[in-house]
Amino acid sequence: MSELQVARLEADTVHLLDQRRLPLELAWLTCADYRAVGEAIKVLAVRGAPAIGIAAAYGMVLAAEAAPGDPAGFIAALAEAAAHLEATRPTAVNLSWAARRMLAVARAAVATGVPAARAVLRQEALAIAAEDRQMNLDLGRYGQAVVPQGARILTHCNAGALATGGWGTALGVVRSAHQAGKAVEVYATETRPLLQGARLTVWELMQDAIPVTLVTDGMAAQLMAQGKVDMVLVGADRIAANGDTANKIGTYGLAVLARAHGLPFYTVAPVSTIDLSAASGAGIVIEERDPEEVTHLGGRRIAPEGARAYNPSFDVTPHRYLTGIITNAGVVYAPYQVNLRRIVEGR
Ligand code: MRU
Repeated sequence: MSELQVARLEADTVHLLDQRRLPLELAWLTCADYRAVGEAIKVLAVRGAPAIGIAAAYGMVLAAEAAPGDPAGFIAALAEAAAHLEATRPTAVNLSWAARRMLAVARAAVATGVPAARAVLRQEALAIAAEDRQMNLDLGRYGQAVVPQGARILTHCNAGALATGGWGTALGVVRSAHQAGKAVEVYATETRPLLQGARLTVWELMQDAIPVTLVTDGMAAQLMAQGKVDMVLVGADRIAANGDTANKIGTYGLAVLARAHGLPFYTVAPVSTIDLSAASGAGIVIEERDPEEVTHLGGRRIAPEGARAYNPSFDVTPHRYLTGIITNAGVVYAPYQVNLRRIVEGR
């Protein structure tokens, strides 16, 4: 099953699978400096919370290669690169988490000299990617235990190998259930405006021969009312200390619908997506993107010239709508305030 890696670190370049062109083309972007990596994150050539964290870590390696050879200049250049990368997209905590982790490692390692610090940073970036993949395999194992045999699973956006270091979060649980011999099938919402569900989730699942049916976002209520869905699994961009969860716009509505139809609704994310510094969803910054993503489809105008459009990229699902949060350290249930802290602190 999917061994897809969306980001590759080479000697002085980073290669990113250009997800804007999927599924029609498998094309790679070559980034020669951290600014190019930042631009790829901004335009969603690489996307998904863990994947942009990994891309940012690789961007920091490029910044380290180009930084001055004196310790003070080296750290100043890396601090500037971290700030630049963090500013590209505000909602997914994995981005700032990875950039700050790299900066902290640089500060600690520079005492041994700049060349040694460069080598340590390269190892750290590769470790961030490898850890993410391992966390997905772990959460897949925990998550598949709550998936019934033959479950029909609704998912939103793309929380698969394309969005992570490999395997996936929500789709990682689907993969693990499939691998465990459960005859699962998936309904993938197309996910307006950028169609990550239609373009990416459907493509990924088809690669692994996991049955998948594409639906438009507006069809979820009807599917549930018809008894065609057994559970909802989605990813997360940031989970606040009280369990409120930011994810792709439309997730909140699916959680409310799941509750109305008595269906389990699980958020699936590695522990690195939990941000205890945000007390609740009110503390999560929601990225607003260009309204043109709504007025246009595939570069072609679909709304009247001059039409106003609103384009928040994420929404926040209040924790009361969650059945549980599937993490690499186990499935977390309410009270989230207590249990999320426990899991982050490794207790
Ligand atoms: O705007 P995107 O495509 O980066 O949004 C992605 C999502 O909302 C995912 O569900 C989330 O990042 C989790 S990915 C494992």
